[in-house]
Amino acid sequence: MPLLEIRVLGDPILREETIPVTEITDELRTLIDDMFETMHAAKGIGLAAPQVGRRERLTVVDVDGDRFVLINPEIVEREGKAKGEEGCLSIPDVYADVERATRVVVRALDRDGQPFEVEARDLLARCFQHEIDHLFGTLFIDHLSVLKRRSALAKWTKEKEKYPRLIRRLDPADVAAHHHRDEEL
Ligand code: NI
Repeated sequence: MPLLEIRVLGDPILREETIPVTEITDELRTLIDDMFETMHAAKGIGLAAPQVGRRERLTVVDVDGDRFVLINPEIVEREGKAKGEEGCLSIPDVYADVERATRVVVRALDRDGQPFEVEARDLLARCFQHEIDHLFGTLFIDHLSVLKRRSALAKWTKEKEKYPRLIRRLDPADVAAHHHRDEEL
């Protein structure tokens, strides 16, 4: 299975709302498999379709072996608030504290198109919120104060030079050698 190219901040697709999935096709399942492989290669814990240039309302998550395919997900309950550090595979090497609900219930379809609900807390809840934001064109930096966002964007202005045409290509060898300070979503 091929590693997909990851779109980085500045690519307009990251700002578009995705389109709900109406049919589970073999092509969609292949996309799901490729997204898992790409996310794992990038040492991420979540990856949403727009990050690989796709408009399906779909995200994949793997937090400590808890793997989820979320198709057309919605958050139906949220509770509590906590700040925690986040990064994003589409804004590599930029991190900031983001306030999120500490517990959420998400309703979605699985890879067979079957509806399910999942309750999540802490890091998994944070990851679900971050990924579902991606499906509506929202990035973690949008949740920061003006000053914190300005500082994140200043860092990104330098990092961005590493990604010609706003594309991040994963070389499996480089990926393995690259030290990640934190998990990116
Ligand atoms: Ni992200």
